[in-house]
Amino acid sequence: MAGVFITIEGVEGSGKSTQLARLSARIQRLGLPLVVSKEPGGTALGKELRRLLLEPHPSGEVWCPDAELLLFYADRAQHLHAVVRPALDEGKLVLLDRFEDSTRAYQGASGVPDGAMDRIGDLVLRRLKPHLTLLLDLDPEEGMARVAARNGAHGAFAETRFDQAALEFHRRVRARFLALAQAEPNRIAVVSARESPDQVEAALWSRVSPLLRSAGLGVD
Ligand code: TMP
Repeated sequence: MAGVFITIEGVEGSGKSTQLARLSARIQRLGLPLVVSKEPGGTALGKELRRLLLEPHPSGEVWCPDAELLLFYADRAQHLHAVVRPALDEGKLVLLDRFEDSTRAYQGASGVPDGAMDRIGDLVLRRLKPHLTLLLDLDPEEGMARVAARNGAHGAFAETRFDQAALEFHRRVRARFLALAQAEPNRIAVVSARESPDQVEAALWSRVSPLLRSAGLGVD
């Protein structure tokens, strides 16, 4: 693998999309060969899987945790095959909105045992790891309030949109992300998403630019 692989992770409402756009713009201004993509849904087939995974089905049926896990990994396998590995082999910089740490955090928080993710992860990833993972950390309560505001909810509606069970789930997700970061501090950089967008952007860039420099990609 010759390229540079960076992923960005975080709970809902952590400003991931805004920061991803800012980071990509900076990298593009430097003229570096960049591929920006996301999971789930980074390929044409993956977009179908994203819809199946994230949109409520009219029947009301929901995926059981194992089926959901396999669908996220099916999306990832296709994405690695069609987009990520070819770009890295060509020496490009690949920037992904969510990757394996999201599975560890979200499906782990849904009760999937770590051993199951270890086994399927080995099969699908074949030891591929991001060089750097940027984790935008935020209290889920604040993240959900931001999502509600973005969706145009306000007042009492904003407070009731996410019930207590959902909040508890997102607290577990956050705790799992932070535990992953603690286990791999050299790969995962935790950045507080509570600061202003400009401050968050600067904090992320201070992690990305040394990596680009050490990979021989011109950065000032
Ligand atoms: P996004 O809109 O931020 O891309 O979020 C996609 C949703 O899918 C988000 O709720 C996190 C979830 N997700 C998982 O549960 N497992 C995964 O492996 C991935 C990539 C995303």
